[in-house]
Order: sequence, then structure tokens, then C-alpha cells
Amino acid sequence: MRILNFGSLNIDHVYRVDHISAPGETVTDLELQYQAGGKGLNQSIALAKSGVTTYHVGCVGKDGGMLLSLLEQAGVKTDYLKPVDELNGHAIIQVSKDGQNSIVIHKGSNQAIRKEDVDWCLEQVQPGDLVLTQNETSQVPYLAEVCRQKKIPLAFNPSPFTSSLMEEFPFEAVTYLLINETEGQQISGRMEPEKIVDMLLEKYSNMRIVLTLGADGVLYADRNCRIRQAAFPVQAVDTTGAGDTFTGFFLGSVLQQRDIQTALRNACAAAAISVTGFGAAVSIPTMQRVEEFLEGR
Ligand code: RIB
Repeated sequence: MRILNFGSLNIDHVYRVDHISAPGETVTDLELQYQAGGKGLNQSIALAKSGVTTYHVGCVGKDGGMLLSLLEQAGVKTDYLKPVDELNGHAIIQVSKDGQNSIVIHKGSNQAIRKEDVDWCLEQVQPGDLVLTQNETSQVPYLAEVCRQKKIPLAFNPSPFTSSLMEEFPFEAVTYLLINETEGQQISGRMEPEKIVDMLLEKYSNMRIVLTLGADGVLYADRNCRIRQAAFPVQAVDTTGAGDTFTGFFLGSVLQQRDIQTALRNACAAAAISVTGFGAAVSIPTMQRVEEFLEGR
């Protein structure tokens, strides 16, 4: 069983700051690091580290060599990655002393995926494969529409959320929807977690919804059951990429036939470990580290 992740790759410019700059304010950094990131790349690395065969699909820019190396080191297959003659996407990230962040994204090469690339890649899908995507590349609604037509199971993490998704994205194509509380509120128009999943299941009865609730853990819902998992409290250094780590470990565990409660527990533990390190992709733990963390809890 494989996962094909149509996702972004970014070069993250990570500035450690005392506090995140307010409008009109200039702050001086405490440290600058250039790191691998992008929601797509982070999720591919988390998937591979969880133990599932992962193909990253997307476009890598002419300055993106280190991203390719990092994916390969983590065991992600890069056969379906296309080099393009433009600058890679990047992110400008401020991380404050209390671990919060603020991010500006330049899309760059992540906007170079064309409809033909989607068509070609989906022709490579084998029975049992799952396709995953986020909202950080071009052709996201088109990809979902083709998955719907071909009945290919699709997992969708609509981050970063844009209102255009509500008009353009065929949510009925989604098997696994992985959202945070704010995204859930925007998609459903409801405020309470239980009401968010009620509304989504009323509209999309076959959907499996994974609603992350920050310090309150996570709520899973499908038409047969609802399962909660508490978060693991840790001292956060940098929360960048925690949601991506969660997504990768949840889907990776499910694809390895773990039951939903175990998949949620693995994902919460992996996300908790990831926030204790500085940076997104570099802070994603291995499954062995997750299992050690969970021992005795
Ligand atoms: O989710 C975290 C990621 O969001 C960062 O790595 C950054 O590249 C942005 O895409």
C-alpha cells in the first residue's frame, strides 16, 4: 500500500525572534536558519518516518536541491518529482520565544504543477493506494475532481485555508479530511467541534473527519463512530509543522492497518515530539521515537 502526496516543497527561512513583529514594527532576529519545509514535504517526511511507502509528487525549483536530498534521506520516493526552471517556493517564518509562529509564503515552483502532471501521476495509481494533498500547490481542485471521477481515495488537508476552496474544491471527493478547528468552522459554518462534524457528515456521509483541537486533542468522526484522543502536553519550542507531522503519522498508521485510536495516539505523540525541536521537517520523529515516547503513557 502506497501514498502519493501531491504537495509543496519550501525553503523555510526561519527567524527566531523575541516576539512576532506587530504591524509597523521592526524586530531584529536572535538567529536565522534555512531549513526544508512546505506542508507537502513535511507530510511526506512524516509519512515515510511512520513506515509507509511514500511518493512525493510536485515541482522542485532550481534552488531546491537540498529539499530533494532531505526527502531521499528520509526514505521518500522522488520518482514523480519534476524539476522546473524557476525559483523554489519559500516561506518566511518568525518563531517567538513561546514557540508561536507567523508565516509568509512565496509559492514559486509549487505553482508549476499543470493538469497534465496530475493526469500522468494519477495514471500511476495502483489499487490500494491513497492520494494526499494540501492547499499549497496549483491544481488542487482539479486533482480532487479527477480522483472523484476515477474513484481514487483522497486525503485532504486544506491548509493554508483560502475561501476560494469553498467554491472550487469538490469536498465530496474526500475520504479523509484532516482539519483544525478554524478550518472546520470555515468549512461547516458551525463553531462547536461536535456540530462541525455533524454538519460535515450530514453533507458528506462517507467522509472520515479528523478534527484537531490544539490542547484539547483531536476528534475523529465517521458515520459509524466518534473517537477522541487527548493531546500530550510538552514544552513547545516551535509549533511549525506540528499539524503536518500529525497528518503524516495518522495516515501512515491507518495505511499500516492500525486501528483509528492507535493512529490518533501515534499522530498526537509525533506532533508533541515535533514541537520540542526548532524547525519543521527536521523536528519530525521516527516511529521508533514515537513508540518510546508512548511507552508507559
Ligand atoms: O506547516 C508548516 C509549513 O508551512 C512550513 O514548513 C512552511 O513552509 C509553510 O508551508
